[in-house]
Amino acid sequence: MNVNLLDLKAQNGALEPELQEAFLRVLRSGHFILGPELDRFERALSEFTGAKHALGVSSGTDAILLALMALEIGPGDEVLCPSFTFFATAGCVARVGAKPVFVDSCPVCFNLDLRDAARRITPRTKAILPVHLFGQAAEMDGTLALARRHGLRVIEDAAQAMGATYRGRQAGTLGDFGTISFFPTKNLGALGDAGALLTGDTALFERVKILRVHGMDPKYYHRVIGGNFRLDALQAALLSVKLPHFNGYTAGRRRNAALYTERLAQLPGVQVARAEKGCGGKAGVEDAATRLVLPAAYPHNGHIWNQYTLRVIGAGRRAALRAYLAARGVGSEIYYPLPLHEQACFAHLGGKPEDLPWAHRLAGEVMSLPIYPELPAEQIEQVCAVIGDFLRS
Ligand SMILES: Cc1ncc(COP(=O)(O)O)c(C=O)c1O
Repeated sequence: MNVNLLDLKAQNGALEPELQEAFLRVLRSGHFILGPELDRFERALSEFTGAKHALGVSSGTDAILLALMALEIGPGDEVLCPSFTFFATAGCVARVGAKPVFVDSCPVCFNLDLRDAARRITPRTKAILPVHLFGQAAEMDGTLALARRHGLRVIEDAAQAMGATYRGRQAGTLGDFGTISFFPTKNLGALGDAGALLTGDTALFERVKILRVHGMDPKYYHRVIGGNFRLDALQAALLSVKLPHFNGYTAGRRRNAALYTERLAQLPGVQVARAEKGCGGKAGVEDAATRLVLPAAYPHNGHIWNQYTLRVIGAGRRAALRAYLAARGVGSEIYYPLPLHEQACFAHLGGKPEDLPWAHRLAGEVMSLPIYPELPAEQIEQVCAVIGDFLRS
């Protein structure tokens, strides 16, 4: 049997009657832009996350862009962000005219290495943009302390981490802004593009609310230059159907991650990342016999497993394992094969692979296995059996 990387139909199909009802409600209301469906979803999101304010926007990318615009970050400014992340994190920094300053990653949680971040601060540094990659929160106490010491703003890219916790607090609610993506494959997936901004700062909230509608306040009077960054009423209505199921989705992902780790850790040459040392501690588990390093959550983090991402040690081994899996019908993906400091569009910044050794190395080692909440346990057993055959072959 094939094991697909994703199966969005499994989740959305289970809610088809409610999704249809929401669709018809919006269709018949004739109210497609802003309005009560969006207000209702924003209230529910703010209640769910504990953020004082939640603002629905057009995508996770636009949420980052809006946060930067609201903080008036632009030409001449520098923003610290990881190199090992999805493009949007740094793309938005460049789009507002600021310079992304790439920071190396921790090999255990794949998130920002704060010691490296501290080394890269200059008088032009205005903000730090940690990403809670794959569903595990970055080291936020350290990030906030660093930001306080240097007067930096903090934007948390929680695109992959809605519902994740850091010492009991929700990812995305700790900095000046948190940004969320509801891209269909995210833990709360819309039926199209969608995103949100979280903030505890009422003045900043009022500012992003205006920026979302071309800087308009009141109607047709433009105080600042914004854009069209609205979340559709239809997507808000559909997301309102799915939000009450979110904790169930998380439970499914956690169950799947635990099963992978339990089964895979028994295989020869497989080790679990040493999470007890905390972020920035060395991965420290590899020896000459190590072939796979499994992901792990720090004890203080509530990981929501947007991805189950392992490291495949040894030149050419990742490609070999992915080909072996693909030949047996098992899907996998590489998030992300080239770190941002090595991307062509950032070549003018002069980054060299060796500048950020872990970002470079992780991009060459990581691969993600199917982990969606509805994935049957038998399929996980099948994936683990195939990996076992590969390791013994
Ligand atoms: C880390 C990260 N940042 C930002 C984004 C952008 O979100 P969106 O696709 O909703 O624009 C994503 C989504 O893929 C992401 O994974």
